[in-house]
Amino acid sequence: MAPDRATARRKPTLSEQSAIETHKRAAAEAAAPMVEDGMRVGLGTGSTVAYLLLALAARELRDVRYVATSPATEQDARELGLAVHGLNELGVLDLAIDGADQIDPEGWLIKGGGAAHTREKIVARCAQRFVVIASAEKVVSALSAPVPLEILRFGVQSTLEALIPAQLRKVPLSPDGNLIADYLGAVEDPRRLSAWLSGTPGVVEHGLFAPELVSYILIAGAGGVERREGGKSDG
Ligand code: 5RP
Repeated sequence: MAPDRATARRKPTLSEQSAIETHKRAAAEAAAPMVEDGMRVGLGTGSTVAYLLLALAARELRDVRYVATSPATEQDARELGLAVHGLNELGVLDLAIDGADQIDPEGWLIKGGGAAHTREKIVARCAQRFVVIASAEKVVSALSAPVPLEILRFGVQSTLEALIPAQLRKVPLSPDGNLIADYLGAVEDPRRLSAWLSGTPGVVEHGLFAPELVSYILIAGAGGVERREGGKSDG
């Protein structure tokens, strides 16, 4: 059963944190065998993806070309010996694998806790299969704020006023030179909110990912790894 919001927000105890790390690793290790020789693969960003990178580096794969969604993933991947290329160079990807901050019962996601949601959404769109890996505490009964935003520096005050309640996050600019902020209002209807955020001038991208972007979701918990189907059929 999905935790309620109060449980989801509470800081995990040390033993819960240790279980969460075990589950992140399990989800990542369940996804790693999907990568096969010769594939073009998108790599997400975050601590769950960090386990994926380790699992991929441990395999003897040939001619796999990767695209990274953030400088941090690019650096970690290169240090592990994975071949990182530009997205323009590879074009269509066979597969992309990424984490998530929240997963609702319909398969909507909130992403961007690591501020990489713009590049992550582009990579998800370019991938024939987009697979999400997550520990079970990311499953919620309903999405809730914050919804990460990437916004243009030009006119930022006016953009934030149009998005009230929203606030800038105290993090560096995105690799594409934009500000990172969070929308703090209610997320009652994710599709409607998604359309409104996308239609607000100054918003480069938001962290709501629709189910049709996702092929499937691997959720690891105490009972093992559950696979949920998304709305994107294999290309
Ligand atoms: C980064 C993301 C991450 O996938 C999301 O924040 C989950 O991170 P983690 O695996 O560290 O819990 O969207 O922009």
